[in-house]
Amino acid sequence: MFSYRHAFHAGNHADVLKHAMLVCTLQYLTQKDTALSVVDTHAGAGLYRLDGDKAQTSGEAAEGIFALLRGNNLKRPSQCTLIDDYLAVLREFNPPGKAANPGSGQTMRNYPGSPLIAEKLLRAQDRLHAFEVHPTDQRLLRGLVNQRDARKICTLHVADGFSGVKALVPPPSRRGLLVCDPSYEIKSDYAKVVDLLTDTLKRFATGCMFIWHPIVARPEAHDLPRKLKNTASRAGRPWLYASLSVKSGHSNSRGAPVGLSGSGVFVANPPYVLAPALKEALPLMLEALKQDEHAGYTLETGN
Ligand SMILES: C[S@@+](CC[C@H](N)C(=O)[O-])C[C@H]1O[C@@H](n2cnc3c(N)ncnc32)[C@H](O)[C@@H]1O
Repeated sequence: MFSYRHAFHAGNHADVLKHAMLVCTLQYLTQKDTALSVVDTHAGAGLYRLDGDKAQTSGEAAEGIFALLRGNNLKRPSQCTLIDDYLAVLREFNPPGKAANPGSGQTMRNYPGSPLIAEKLLRAQDRLHAFEVHPTDQRLLRGLVNQRDARKICTLHVADGFSGVKALVPPPSRRGLLVCDPSYEIKSDYAKVVDLLTDTLKRFATGCMFIWHPIVARPEAHDLPRKLKNTASRAGRPWLYASLSVKSGHSNSRGAPVGLSGSGVFVANPPYVLAPALKEALPLMLEALKQDEHAGYTLETGN
C-alpha cells in the first residue's frame, strides 16, 4: 500500500508551480467550443484543508501558497495574468470571511487539487477522468464530486492511472489534456512516465500532456526532464519545460534533509500562451518563494 498522502503537501511550492501552469493550460484549452477531455492519472483527494492537522503537521503551505500570498494578497491583483488567474481559481474555493488561522494573516483555508481545479474550469461538454488508488483519497474525491453535482462531467476510476490512460486516448473529440502527477514513491514511476509520454504521443500526437516531477537527488529524477524532452522531440512535437527551486537541495548544517527543494513541469504540445505567461510569472514566483541563494527557475521550449 502506498503511504503518500497529498494532504501533507497541499499548497506547497510544487503545487504553486504545477497548479498555476495547469490553470493557464486549461483556460486556453477551454476557449474552443469543441469538447475537451482531461485525464488526471494521479488525482489525489481533490480538496485539502490548510488549517487541518495534516497540512499543519508539515507546514509546507507556508513555503508555498502562503509565501505567494504574502507578496500577492488574494484580493489584490499581482499584475501578472498567470498568477492572478491561479489565485482567482483558489478564491473560488475560499469564500470571504473564513481565514485559515484567524489572526495569522493567512487568508486561505481550502486548497484545491488538480481534479477540482479541472472540474472548476471545464464546461458542460467537457469530460474529466480521474484515477486514484488510495482508498481514503478515492472516498474523499468521490464525496466531493457528488457534493459538487459534477457526476455528469467527472468519472472516477479506482485503478492504476498509468495503464488506465490507454483506453481513454485519443478522446472522441480529439481534444485532450493528460495530467500525470505521480508521487514517485517507487523508482519505477520515472520510467513509467517516459513510457506513458512515448505511447500517448504515438496514439494521440496532438494531445497536450502535462507531467510534474520532483527535483530530488536521485539519478532517475535528474535524467527525467532530458528523457521527456528527447521523447517529444523524437515524436516531432513541441514541448515546454519549467522548473522552480526555492532552496538548496542539500542537507542542512546538522545533516538533516531539507525537504523538497524544487520541482519541474514538462508539457508536450503546450498552449502557445504558456511560455510568455511563465516568462512573466516565474521571476515573481521566485521572488515570493525563494528561501536562499540556491533558489532559481528555468524555462525552456523546444521542438
Ligand atoms: C502527487 S499526488 C496527486 C496530487 C494531485 N494530482 C494534485 O495536483 O492535486 C499523487 C496521487 O497518486 C496516487 N497514486 C499513486 N499511484 C497511483 C497509480 N498507479 N494510479 C493512480 N493513482 C496513484 C496517490 O495515492 C496520490 O494520491
